[in-house]
Amino acid sequence: MITVGTARELFPEEVRVAITPASAEFLLKKGFKVVVQSGCGIASGIKDQDYQSKGVEVVQRREEVFDKADFILYVRGPGSSREVEESDLKLLREGKSLIGFLEPLAFPEVSKKLAEMKVNAFSVELIPRISRAQSMDALSMMATVAGYRAVIEAAKLSDKMFPMLMTSAGTTKPAKVFVIGAGVAGLQAMAMSKKLGAIVEGYDIRPETKEQVQSVGAKFVELGLETEETRAEGGYAKAMGEEFYRKQRELMKKHVSEADVVITTAQVPGKRAPVLITKDMVESMRPSSVIIDIAAEKGGNCELTQAGKVVDYNGVKIFGVVNPGSAYPTHSSYLYSMCLANFLALFITKDGKFVVNFEDEIIRDSAVCYDGKIVSPMVRKILDGSAK
Ligand code: NAI
Repeated sequence: MITVGTARELFPEEVRVAITPASAEFLLKKGFKVVVQSGCGIASGIKDQDYQSKGVEVVQRREEVFDKADFILYVRGPGSSREVEESDLKLLREGKSLIGFLEPLAFPEVSKKLAEMKVNAFSVELIPRISRAQSMDALSMMATVAGYRAVIEAAKLSDKMFPMLMTSAGTTKPAKVFVIGAGVAGLQAMAMSKKLGAIVEGYDIRPETKEQVQSVGAKFVELGLETEETRAEGGYAKAMGEEFYRKQRELMKKHVSEADVVITTAQVPGKRAPVLITKDMVESMRPSSVIIDIAAEKGGNCELTQAGKVVDYNGVKIFGVVNPGSAYPTHSSYLYSMCLANFLALFITKDGKFVVNFEDEIIRDSAVCYDGKIVSPMVRKILDGSAK
């Protein structure tokens, strides 16, 4: 029988957990055994007894999870967390498998170490975004949390209430929110801002986002720059040249300066986030307006963003949110843990056998290293490049 386990997350301020009672129940039904470290679910409102009542074994020490589990599940695994790397590489042995956010493209040398130790690793960032993998798409689930969080952080910092309020003393005008980037997080931020009663504008350089922006009740800002040229494979945006971004900033300035809240979510896979709001643009904003930059970890979309801090620039508050999906842990852990459980279900055949089937593109694409080899072509390419 294959055992799946998780220990307490070590990444600073990480509040999510990779196995919840709901996902454990699902895994147990699939025929896995489940083991967790005592206290791992506390921040998500989960007591040890909640796990035990589903049939999960609860152990005291981290080492026990590593001894007993064949699959070790993480939110932030080695690669995405230095703290985990230092603690857990010592505990891992040949034949163990890891699943989680491992950031193999940013930290391929960690993948190399895992391969040398003959530890297998599957990274959820690499799960292909195809229809069959939607229930495992941890990136989208966490981006949904990030988009929601951006709006809540903005509402907390804003000097304005979002909705129009008609009172006997007078009527307050609704806040104006401008969201840059209409991926999963951006669309969620637009939808949430709209639900709170704000007037919402959205922008993305991919032309197909116009309808998506409108479908969540926001107005699409047309700058005339959005063409097929801005679109990369897999529905992502292309990294554009500095001249393109200069033009974009110039055309966007009016929308930024008129907004009470700007939420920036623009990212390009594998690249620094584009700088779309300059100091000069911030200077054009009303004091007490707010910028929430959830691309902060990738360098930020605003020139003045500092990751993890609220910067006050002439009264404009700029919050560079770090690890934006790590919030509202009861719900974010539930969503994340179900993504991992759905992914693990791929390893169980119709007749209940455990098989690692590399013919399945979801397993193949998400695998970083297996049986002592780096199997991800993307990771291999980076490692080969850095060896030259
Ligand atoms: P992301 O986090 O990589 O980037 C966020 C957004 O920033 C993207 O929409 C991108 O176009 C935009 N952006 C980049 N540069 C920009 C600029 N200069 N100005 C304005 N916006 C800019 O994106 P995310 O959320 O990961 O989505 C990427 C794609 O994946 C989308 O096409 C989305 O629809 C697709 N997707 C498909 C799924 C599926 O088929 N199962 C599931 C989830 C997403």
